[in-house]
Amino acid sequence: MTEFEKKIFEVKEKIKNSKNLSELTKISSEIFSKNGIINLEFKKLGSLPPDERKNFAANINSVKKDLSEIFSKKSNEVLDKEIIDKVNNEKIDITLPEKDFKIGKVHPVSQVIDEISSIFSEIGFTVEEGPDVENDYNNFTALNTPENHPAKDMHDTFYLDQDMKTLLRTHTSPVQVRTMLKDKPPFKIIAPGRTYRSDSDQTHTPMFHQLEGLHIDKNINMGHLKGCLNYFIKEFFEVDKIKMRFRPSHFPFTEPSAEVDIGYRLENNKIIIGEGNKWLEILGCGMVHPNVLKNCKVDHKKFQGFAFGIGIDRLAMLKYGINDLRSFFECDYRWLNHYGFDPLDVPTNYRGLSR
Ligand code: PHE
Repeated sequence: MTEFEKKIFEVKEKIKNSKNLSELTKISSEIFSKNGIINLEFKKLGSLPPDERKNFAANINSVKKDLSEIFSKKSNEVLDKEIIDKVNNEKIDITLPEKDFKIGKVHPVSQVIDEISSIFSEIGFTVEEGPDVENDYNNFTALNTPENHPAKDMHDTFYLDQDMKTLLRTHTSPVQVRTMLKDKPPFKIIAPGRTYRSDSDQTHTPMFHQLEGLHIDKNINMGHLKGCLNYFIKEFFEVDKIKMRFRPSHFPFTEPSAEVDIGYRLENNKIIIGEGNKWLEILGCGMVHPNVLKNCKVDHKKFQGFAFGIGIDRLAMLKYGINDLRSFFECDYRWLNHYGFDPLDVPTNYRGLSR
């Protein structure tokens, strides 16, 4: 065995026995570097008689190729094993409390949805959900909306197909329909969610949020609606006194219908709720139309009730002094950091809604 062959044998053993990447790196330089075994052997070429050189070089090259293959096979094995070991050994205990919450804030819209849900859950409402992609029947027809109603116009509604049967819901009212068709009365639900209309300016965005309310039982009347909204607005704005007015309005799915304004005044550009003589519209409501109850298989002679639809984003703007709705959906981290809420501080009626 030549000296070269001996070294190759040794080095192969080393590769075979190596256990980690740093060992392999050392062996690699021992073999392949400028002063490594291979290059030192090549240097001998010059001192050989010309007719032996070709074979000699061919032999080194084949040894080199052989070593490279063994080496890269072993490297891959070691690398795979290191990754598997790392995955197996690096465990985090997710039951440990977080020490330092610096990043990640709850969006004001999510915060307001949590606040509103907490307020209504106190008086027995449960939460329902419906899909953003709705059919024409649930969004309009079942809600007693005539074929030629302006809301059905392409300018207002985002249709998803040519024959205008599938759409992005224009309000959360189809959740009323879904809830009534799914269960038996009485119903006492709220349904927060995304809604869509083709509109965009300082107080309108193509996607916005609503919260639907529906209370159907025997002998429910407008007085219950008024009491319920009065309670909600006081709790939401965390004030003892509010000014509220019902303005006659029209929705195809309620009769009578009203829009509700709350009284406020401005002090140094800040909104003070419950005083003053300015009015701000915050929701639409009314007594559910008998045709809607019929469409939803509810006996309208026995059962009746009210529904309302609140603009969530508007409430968030008012409560937290944000003056451009479009900024809600720009995903600007600095904005979220400023207006966002602590994820661990979940709003409840007992602990306070918005500390
Ligand atoms: N769906 C109505 C809207 O989007 C609001 C509303 C809901 C009105 C329920 C009455 C009853 O404007």
